[in-house]
Amino acid sequence: MVRSVITGTGRYVPPRVVSNAELAGLMDTSDEWIRTRTGIIERRFADEGVSSSDLGLEAARRAIEDAGLQPSDMDLIIFATLSPDHHFPGSGCYLQAKLGVPPIGCLDVRNQCTGFLYSLSVADAFIRSGVYKNILVVGAEVHSSALDMTDRGRDIAVLFGDGAGAAVVSACKEDGRGIIHSELHADGRFARALYMDVWDISRKPFMGHESVDSGEIYPKMDGKTVFKHAVTNMIQLFQHTLEVTGTNPADIKYVIPHQANMRINQAIAERLGIPEEKFLHNIQRYANTTAASIPILLDETRRSGKIEKGDLILLIAFGSGFTWASTLLRW
Ligand code: ACO
Repeated sequence: MVRSVITGTGRYVPPRVVSNAELAGLMDTSDEWIRTRTGIIERRFADEGVSSSDLGLEAARRAIEDAGLQPSDMDLIIFATLSPDHHFPGSGCYLQAKLGVPPIGCLDVRNQCTGFLYSLSVADAFIRSGVYKNILVVGAEVHSSALDMTDRGRDIAVLFGDGAGAAVVSACKEDGRGIIHSELHADGRFARALYMDVWDISRKPFMGHESVDSGEIYPKMDGKTVFKHAVTNMIQLFQHTLEVTGTNPADIKYVIPHQANMRINQAIAERLGIPEEKFLHNIQRYANTTAASIPILLDETRRSGKIEKGDLILLIAFGSGFTWASTLLRW
């Protein structure tokens, strides 16, 4: 039986480190407020002129090299982002040109914080059905250009950072390895708990000067609603994923969750009785990098030597939409 195995991972974050103190110089916030509410200490911001596909390119190159393959070995590119280079075409097309690969298919997935896991599930379906052998899955975000760095936007601006992570998903016949289970959920009734109004294609024209003046170009969030649903839904999803796969929680080596807020993840780990050293985080250094957060953390964990062949890993995410998703895999 063909299974999908992650054969390579890579990450790239822009070099510019932005501390909480630097943000406090731009808006009415403080290092203490950000640390205690979110666990974030610093994040990376890309320079002017850098797009999500540029960050994705570096992560992709590292993942492909890690897999021992060439860019030309890829059969499909799946690019997850909520901050695409342009509204169209998709960032996957830009990445394809930058990688210099043959005219393989490119698919953008716009599922915010769950984008990487939705993308993995698509890759898994293509691999298991025998359509493709090697798929490049990238999550990349440049949030820093679309954050309101004034007092008005402080509740969101302090939460996000830029970065990219990538994985090569390959067909494998080795018994027992690979993606065991993927689960996808969404509840569009909560679309406006975390959203961006621009652009609104129902308007003619879809945006104007007032869109900038009123701050519509920036994301809006009902933080408490997001927090509550993130905890509830991820706990239910964790339990359901284990139940349908007949997995004992003690057999999971690591949970690699989306990095939205360390308090969300600590609340989940505590309620599920999972020791903190198994429920990983790196939000302190990168903040929330949305579609990139899971592949960045996966790559860091793997390259630090913590993940070995045969380990059971659970990836889990919740975000705007609302959407939530899990992937259980044996390394
Ligand atoms: N600095 C200082 N004060 C702030 C800031 C800031 N950056 N932002 C908001 N405040 C103020 C508010 O104005 C409010 O003031 P008021 O009480 O005078 O009205 C007060 O702080 C709110 O404080 P709390 O009620 O303690 O805030 P809360 O505990 O809800 O924490 C937070 C806010 C951190 C945003 C929390 O709600 C949260 O993390 N929610 C989930 C957010 C999230 O995970 N988003 C992304 C997930 S989905 C995705 O990744 C796309």
